[in-house]
Amino acid sequence: MKNKTNLGISVFFFFFCLVSVTSDLEADRRALIALRDGVHGRPLLWNLSAPPCTWGGVQCNSDPRVTALRLPGVGLSGPLPIAIGNLTKLETLSFRFNALNGPLPADFANLTLLRYLYLQGNTFSGEIPSYLFTLPNLIRINLAQNNFSGRIPDNVNSATRLSTLYLQDNQLTGPIPEITILLEQFNVSSNQLNGSIPDPLSGKPKTAFEGNFLCGKPLEACPVNGTGNGTKTPGKGKSDKLSAGAIAGIVIACFIGLLLLFLILFCLCRKRKKEDNVQSRNIEAAPVSTSSAAVAKESTVANVPTPVANGGPHSSENGASKNPAVSKDLTFFVKSFGDFDLDGLLKASAEVLGKGTFGSSYKASFDHGLVVVVKRLRDVVVPEKEFREKMQVLGSISHANLVTMIAYYFSRDEKLVVFEYMPRGSLSALLHGNKGNGRSSLNWESRAGIALGAARAISYLHSRDATTSHGNIKSSNVLLSESFEAKVSDYCLAPMISPTSTPNRIDGYRAPEVTDARKISQKADVYSFGVLLLELLTGKSPTQQQLHEEGVDLPRWVSSITEQQSPSEVFDPELTRYQSEGNENMMRLLKIGISCTAQYPDSRPSMSEVTRLIEELSHSSGSPGPLSD
Ligand SMILES: *[C@@H]1O[C@H](CO)[C@@H](O)[C@H](O)[C@H]1NC(C)=O
Ligand SMILES: *[C@@H]1O[C@H](CO)[C@@H](O)[C@H](O)[C@H]1NC(C)=O
Ligand SMILES: *[C@@H]1O[C@H](CO)[C@@H](O)[C@H](O)[C@H]1NC(C)=O
Ligand SMILES: *[C@@H]1O[C@H](CO)[C@@H](O)[C@H](O)[C@H]1NC(C)=O
Ligand SMILES: *[C@@H]1O[C@H](CO)[C@@H](O)[C@H](O)[C@H]1NC(C)=O
Ligand SMILES: *[C@@H]1O[C@H](CO)[C@@H](O)[C@H](O)[C@H]1NC(C)=O
Ligand SMILES: *[C@@H]1O[C@H](CO)[C@@H](O)[C@H](O)[C@H]1NC(C)=O
Ligand SMILES: *[C@@H]1O[C@H](CO)[C@@H](O)[C@H](O)[C@H]1NC(C)=O
Repeated sequence: MKNKTNLGISVFFFFFCLVSVTSDLEADRRALIALRDGVHGRPLLWNLSAPPCTWGGVQCNSDPRVTALRLPGVGLSGPLPIAIGNLTKLETLSFRFNALNGPLPADFANLTLLRYLYLQGNTFSGEIPSYLFTLPNLIRINLAQNNFSGRIPDNVNSATRLSTLYLQDNQLTGPIPEITILLEQFNVSSNQLNGSIPDPLSGKPKTAFEGNFLCGKPLEACPVNGTGNGTKTPGKGKSDKLSAGAIAGIVIACFIGLLLLFLILFCLCRKRKKEDNVQSRNIEAAPVSTSSAAVAKESTVANVPTPVANGGPHSSENGASKNPAVSKDLTFFVKSFGDFDLDGLLKASAEVLGKGTFGSSYKASFDHGLVVVVKRLRDVVVPEKEFREKMQVLGSISHANLVTMIAYYFSRDEKLVVFEYMPRGSLSALLHGNKGNGRSSLNWESRAGIALGAARAISYLHSRDATTSHGNIKSSNVLLSESFEAKVSDYCLAPMISPTSTPNRIDGYRAPEVTDARKISQKADVYSFGVLLLELLTGKSPTQQQLHEEGVDLPRWVSSITEQQSPSEVFDPELTRYQSEGNENMMRLLKIGISCTAQYPDSRPSMSEVTRLIEELSHSSGSPGPLSD
């Protein structure tokens, strides 16, 4: 009898819970369908018999509720219906580059959790509603390239978390309100704003204000009495046309000037390239064909680089040459990995491992079983003598958490570095999955161990002298040994490589103050290492397309979440699945990562300090730490 009642109650609660959970998602679903039916243009191909969280552009949390709706460039047109306001858990809304028009629907005012609003590249019109700035969580607003008119609302300062306000290319009029909140990104160019630029915005670039009738810093000073002469005067057709003509003239002149400049630069560059790069370009073409060929395994290193025929006959005794200046063969640092020479290396079967910042890497397998990694440096800018000196220094570096450099080779056309081979591949591949192989799960202990190993390696480099820094820290340069120990590679090569060859991929790791990839510093290393820590903990790649589309980098994404009530949401679900929530050590490592990615170099800790902190938390990691805050 009693059992029966209990059962009845549990069943009741079960259904109650089920209903209350599904009804919220059901409301989201209804809102999405109302949106789908209400907009014009290309139809949204959502499978209505599948759950809404599986629909294109829809993203849910674990509740499940809809937290993001991203429909960029999908050909929607017409006005937005009243519907989106019912997605009450929405944090990201993106309709950028569609053909939507009409005013912003009033029900947006109900999106109190909204953080990111991307509506650029439509023809929305009407005034910018002032309720937008009362949404408490908004971080980015992008309304650029629309047809908004009227004044910029006076209550912009109510949006205390706002860091981006993009309003360029609209029809906005009137003055810029006195904006005192700290906006990292601000742009109102190409509107019809007039008046003077408020003082707190005077530090923004000129281009953020151009194409208006504004005056004051950073543009020209305002005329003392407001009735300027010399500055643009709005309202009078004749003077408008005149200034438009003048602007056109200036633009054309600038354009021609730039064109000439580019032409000259282009000629100069070509001339220089021809002198020292003709052959290396030919070489560069080869690896691509190798990597695309499915039979990469059958190829040899030799058919990847051009044969070094001008190097003369090589003998294997030459291999261990102690005199780098005359060496026409590999210069060895360590012999314990096996005996081979350049010829042998070139004949070994090769497999492309990847194209890195400094050049392509190959796995070279010898017949007798030895496997090494060959890196072909491209765009080496230092002369041979300096290169050899630097290499000699690198060769003397040895640490348990650094990939061992075995040998190098230098000729006019070819610069090779030979490393030990790490069978487990890179941390990047392990965290984010590589082509074909899915991502494998790394538990907290392995991740903490990898963080510590990498920290020790970088700390060791920094301890050698104040000018030594790694220069290229990222997860694809953290390799893993058989026992998942971190082995850092590609260290200290940056100062030898032309900065122009540095692709943007590195950007997710690069400290904000670094503008020239060759001018590296230890504090910049600390920043990159901090990003690496955040990557380890969140499982998100700093170079991930998604993050970049929304214009936030990984550190900013992390801090935007941790400022919220639920910081544990940042962690990789793989990590929290088997871990009690709010693991104290995970939180501590996250804090270390955040402090490393401080914007100002001086606010970042030193690498030895970081290593000490990680050591501390790894020691307490073995036993479940005290659950206090
Ligand atoms: C939005 O929610 C309200 C109240 O919950 C409801 O009356 C309305 O029908 C919903 N609208 C849509 C489009 O789902
Ligand atoms: C729609 O979703 C249902 C349920 O998930 C599935 O059975 C069906 O095949 C899907 N239809 C299409 C056209 O994808
Ligand atoms: C916002 O939500 C409340 C409650 O759900 C509703 O009464 C109100 O009409 C909504 N506001 C707008 C502008 O849709
Ligand atoms: C922009 O808005 C103005 C009125 O404010 C209107 O005349 C014009 O046609 C609109 N332009 C577009 C492209 O919708
Ligand atoms: C800005 O333009 C409006 C109308 O175009 C005008 O009434 C106002 O006086 C102007 N303000 C300034 C400071 O020039
Ligand atoms: C502002 O927007 C204009 C037009 O899109 C662009 O040319 C300019 O570089 C931007 N300036 C800033 C500081 O974002
Ligand atoms: C500015 O205007 C005031 C009166 O409005 C006038 O007394 C003063 O001389 C003017 N100053 C200049 C520099 O034109
Ligand atoms: C304003 O314009 C008048 C006539 O065009 C000129 O004489 C005067 O010097 C100008 N004043 C300034 C401050 O540019």
